[in-house]
Amino acid sequence: MNPLRVGLVGLGEVAQSIHLPVLADQRDRWSIAGVYDVSPSLVSLATSQYAPAKAYQTAEALIESPDIDVAFVLSSDDTHSRFVRAAMRAGKHILLEKPACLTVREIDELLALMPAYNKTLFVGYMRRYAPAYLAARDELPAHADITHVRIFDLISEGRHFLKKSQNVLYPGDIDPALLARGARERDALIREVVGADAPADLVRAYRGLTALSSHHISAMRGLIGEPKGVVSAHRTNGGANTSITFDYGHFACLYDAVVDDLGLFDAMIEVRSNTRRVRIIYDTPYIRSLPTRLEVTEAGPLGPVTKSFGPLYGDAFSNELETFHRHIQEGTRPLTDLADSRRDLALMAGIIEKMKQSGRR
Ligand SMILES: NC(=O)c1ccc[n+]([C@@H]2O[C@H](COP(=O)([O-])OP(=O)(O)OC[C@H]3O[C@@H](n4cnc5c(N)ncnc54)[C@H](O)[C@@H]3O)[C@@H](O)[C@H]2O)c1
Repeated sequence: MNPLRVGLVGLGEVAQSIHLPVLADQRDRWSIAGVYDVSPSLVSLATSQYAPAKAYQTAEALIESPDIDVAFVLSSDDTHSRFVRAAMRAGKHILLEKPACLTVREIDELLALMPAYNKTLFVGYMRRYAPAYLAARDELPAHADITHVRIFDLISEGRHFLKKSQNVLYPGDIDPALLARGARERDALIREVVGADAPADLVRAYRGLTALSSHHISAMRGLIGEPKGVVSAHRTNGGANTSITFDYGHFACLYDAVVDDLGLFDAMIEVRSNTRRVRIIYDTPYIRSLPTRLEVTEAGPLGPVTKSFGPLYGDAFSNELETFHRHIQEGTRPLTDLADSRRDLALMAGIIEKMKQSGRR
């Protein structure tokens, strides 16, 4: 198979730090054929660094071009459903950055187009393709034996780490009217979920759920299945911190997110039975090729015995794109597709309802 011709819409942080270098690295699978962004400086940067990528005048022109096989939708969340709709109608394979959309309504509108779409749509939840996560599936206790699950993201924002490790261009040449329109559209979508008069901390909490917690909500469902619902959810610290309890019937899954400026990235999933503990450790602020680790501890006659996997240097983002490519080649359905993302968004809407009940702290 010739390399698939990729067109990227959105050339911001995640495109520069992850997708462009991974695509270039996987040169047998992909060629970087086209780019578009509302920032002219980002377009110039990408076309000079990734020649012969062509600059398109609009996102639609790129998506509809016969010279593009795969559309990577890497623009801000509020634009996802518009560009995905165009790419589905144009019959292109799609790599869609998470969150797929901001509302269940948007995703339902896209799902309605699925019967006429015969290509591959893959949502970029890379933690589900990290080696430690994949290895953990064979180490988990039987579902009936699980007694407790604990998940956390105790982190600082990606920029803390990227600014120190990479030369990302943050553009200053985007038309302010476009930026203002994007902010209005994003706010309107978020308010469909949180309510028109929602306080600022609830808005922030929803942004945190969609931007950050969506990774672990997706990973949780992929690992231990669907929760029956949300028992409780709180937000504190102006919505920067969230605590959620998911109902799994015979056990509870506790999730905590704390976003601060300490400059640490501490993220983990821990699944326990009475005699076994499995920990997936993702100390990987989204910088490529940082290792993940897996620890399995079992009760033994002398005391607990811990088996440790890693550091595992397989890169989650590279694995994600390899998996996407394989699904395209084989015509198979990714685990992280639109229907799967709908479950995440429905859970997030349920979390917001519980947060409304628990009030501001
Ligand atoms: N998988 C991950 O770990 C991960 C990490 C970061 C971001 N993301 C996701 O990737 C997406 C982009 O995030 P980012 O951090 O790169 O943000 P960013 O703001 O750095 O980049 C977004 C880019 O989209 C462009 N854009 C905005 N409106 C546009 C439009 N109408 N047409 C074309 N381009 C437009 C902006 O100019 C900007 O360059 C988001 O959906 C985000 O949630 C995923």
